[in-house]
Parts: sequence; structure tokens; C-alpha cells
Amino acid sequence: MTDQSAASFFGDMYPYRNRLRTNAAFPEKGRDPEEVYEELLKMSGEEDKKWETGQVSGTMYHGGKPHYAFLNRVFSLFSYVNLLQRDLCPSGTKFEAEIVSMTAKMLNGDAARAMNDQDEVVGVVTSGGTESIFNGVYVHREWAREEKGITQPEMVVPTTIHPAFDKAAHYLGIKIIHVPVNQNFEADVAAMRKAINRNTIMVCGSAGCYPYGIIDPLKELSDLAQEFKIGMHVDGCLGGFILPWVEKLGYDIPPFDFRLPGVTSMSCDTHKYGYGLKGTSVVLVRNRKLRRYMFFSKADWPGGVYASPTFQGSRSGGLSAATWAAMVTMGESGYLEAARRIMTTADKIRAGIAQIPEIQIMGKSTFLIAMTSNVVDIYHVNDYLASKGWRMNGCQLPAGFHFCITLPQTEPGIAERFIEDLKAGVAYAKNPAQPMPMSGALYGLSGTADGKEILKQGMVAWLEATYEL
Ligand SMILES: Cc1ncc(COP(=O)(O)O)c(C=O)c1O
Repeated sequence: MTDQSAASFFGDMYPYRNRLRTNAAFPEKGRDPEEVYEELLKMSGEEDKKWETGQVSGTMYHGGKPHYAFLNRVFSLFSYVNLLQRDLCPSGTKFEAEIVSMTAKMLNGDAARAMNDQDEVVGVVTSGGTESIFNGVYVHREWAREEKGITQPEMVVPTTIHPAFDKAAHYLGIKIIHVPVNQNFEADVAAMRKAINRNTIMVCGSAGCYPYGIIDPLKELSDLAQEFKIGMHVDGCLGGFILPWVEKLGYDIPPFDFRLPGVTSMSCDTHKYGYGLKGTSVVLVRNRKLRRYMFFSKADWPGGVYASPTFQGSRSGGLSAATWAAMVTMGESGYLEAARRIMTTADKIRAGIAQIPEIQIMGKSTFLIAMTSNVVDIYHVNDYLASKGWRMNGCQLPAGFHFCITLPQTEPGIAERFIEDLKAGVAYAKNPAQPMPMSGALYGLSGTADGKEILKQGMVAWLEATYEL
């Protein structure tokens, strides 16, 4: 890795090192809570400034300070409650059963029941998208072993699927087969068909995928799953809480949920477009039998009997309470209005991009717009945008970046300012200040085996650096 790319990789990770006291060990005497709070207030104030401008892609989905203040008030009522101990907190059962039910209704769980009276979409609340995906994959591994005798499980996914699937496959001992996407950046169903064999337990697709926001051809994948009698997970972590409302607004959105008969599980993040606090998500499965595979219990433990629904043990009741409160205060009208504002902004940005011949939108976009260029180096454009305070998400293979539109971008003037800066970014890219773009220096590495290895080592070093004082 070059010095320049290492610098951009590690960035300024320790801005507080020389300004605030470092606690390598407990302070000998407990500090004054007010003094500690003041210190934290300064940090959060500085960090909030980075996204409050509306220039950050994704990440901050709601952005409304009164909304967060309300959720934090709710959180504080149950923050110290352990959801494993339902005798002490029956409220947790109300929150989680209702979160799951509202999510299943939104994703057309009733359609599954109508198709087959053995089916009833049920689910659990997890800690985030990754854990929802982990559980979705896990139930299929257990189902396939129990009911099909598969002991060398494999799963088939498009290359655009989120790395959480690779992580699940890695932890669960499943072989994951990545199939390149087609020229529209959508899952190539014919190629995925060829990758299926007698050890395949499931196929997966996204609604929409993280790199491009694209909805894979899920109807065709559902047909495939049914034909081969295997499972199918739809990753709706990103789109699951916005696409239902975008569809209701009249946009052309193909069915992506339990209306498809082959869909056996779906992940959907309350902590993204569900507008909850960070730390919750929902995973739904097509019937109770599948959910049973997720549950864990131990009857002969000296510590008593133990049961937990997901990978986690103790969990804070505050997060589920806040998620529930976000959902019931938003209501259908709130989600619909948020989707309308986001899509109006996305449409404005798309119209602006259409006036810039050097920039192309990658695939059929909705709330997330991925851009590339066959004229200029798109990473130079990204460097310019970064210099103007924008924070896009870089894509690679092929080079590009995406702008995931959330509520902070719907404030007046932001879409227009983005298009102006994008145009100026294209002009900059035609005559850049330095030949190697900062934001492309890392991605350039992943095209070769050696480069990939260097990059992997660099990422591990970055993770290590996040635990340095
Ligand atoms: C499509 C998709 N799937 C899964 C995830 C993983 O979610 P989390 O980061 O909450 O674990 C993300 C996160 O951005 C995502 O965009």
C-alpha cells in the first residue's frame, strides 16, 4: 500500500488523543458525571456536524433531532432491562411480537398464508442486518440437514450480495458460490441455476443490494428455489423498510417479498429506513417450523434452564422499546411521507445526472443511486466531492460510488447543490491536481490476487488500529 493510500485508509482516527484524557486504566477516583457528560457532549456535537449538512450518503437515516430525542427518552425507560428475563419485563414480549407482526404485514406475510395454510410468516428481532442474515442462513442450514440430509451445505449468491452472507457462510461452515451479475448489475439467474447442485441449501438476492440499490430478479430466483426445492433469502436489510412505501407511491417496483412463493426468509432493518435506533433488525421466515431451527435451548445446565431465540444472549429492552416506538409513531402515513420525500429527492438527482453526459447511473435505481463514468476517472470526481464535504460510498469492480438518499438529503437545496458539485467534480477529473485519486488508491488494489492480499492485511491492520488508545 502506498503512503497516500495508507493515510486515507487510517485517516485521522484519533482526534481526541491530545485533547482529552486517555483512560488506559480506571481513573483512581470516579469522575464527576457532569464533567464526563460535558466531554461527551462536545464529541457528539463535533461528530453530528459531519452529517447534519445532509451531505452524507446513507448512514443517518432519519436525522430528525426531535425524533432521536423521543427515541432516547423511550430507550432510557428500559435501557437496563434484560430481554432474556421476560418475567421481569413482559413489555419486551409486547414490543417484539408487535415489531415482528408489523414488519410481516408490511412485507405481505398474509400472502404466504393465502398460498398455503401451513405457512405463517413469523420472525424475531435481532441486533442488526448481519445478525438477521446470519439467522436466515442458519435456519436453512439446519433445515437442509434435518430434512434433506445435506451435510456439505452450499449457497448460491450474486456477487453484489452483502458480505454478511460471506461472514455467515464462514462462521457456519457453508460453501458460498458467488455468481457475477449481468450487464444491468442484477443477479444472473441463468448463471445461478448452473451453480446449483445437490448440496445447495439456498439461493439469495437483494431488495436492494448495497452497491447499487438494485432489486435482483427475485421472481425468477423464487421460481428457481421452488424448482430445486431449496430455500431463498431476500436481503431487504436496506430496502425492506422503504420499498413497500415506494411501491405504494406508484413507482414501478416488482414483488420482492412474501408474495413470491419461493421466498423462505427475509431480513429487514429497523435501524435503517425503519428509523429506529442503531442495534435492531427483523428476520422473518415463511413458517413456524423454520423459526424453530433458529431457537436454542439447554435443559441440563447447572445455572438453570436456558433458552434464547437468536445468536445473542442478554439484550437491552431499551432498543426494542425504541424501535417499537419509532414504528408506531411513524405509522403508515409517516413511512409513506418519508418515502415520498426521499424519492422526490432521488428523482431530482437522477434528472440532474441525466444532464451530465460523463456520468452514468448503474442499473435501475430507486432510493440509492450508483454512478460510474466511461469518460473520466470516477474516483477523481469522488475526491472533488469529498473536498466539498460530501461523503459518498465507494464502489469497485467496476469503479464508481453511490449516494444512498435518506431524510437529511431531502432538505431544500441539497439535491441542487449536489448536482452543481458533481458537475464541477467532472471538470476537476478532466484536469486533476494529482494523477492518482485518493479514493481510488485502495480500490485499485483489489483487481489482482497480490493486491487483494495486501488490501486484506491493510483492513486487518485498520481493525487493530481501531483498538489503539
Ligand atoms: C443490503 C444490506 N444487507 C446487509 C447489511 C448489513 O447490515 P448491518 O450493517 O446492520 O449488519 C447492509 C448494511 O448496510 C446492507 O446494506
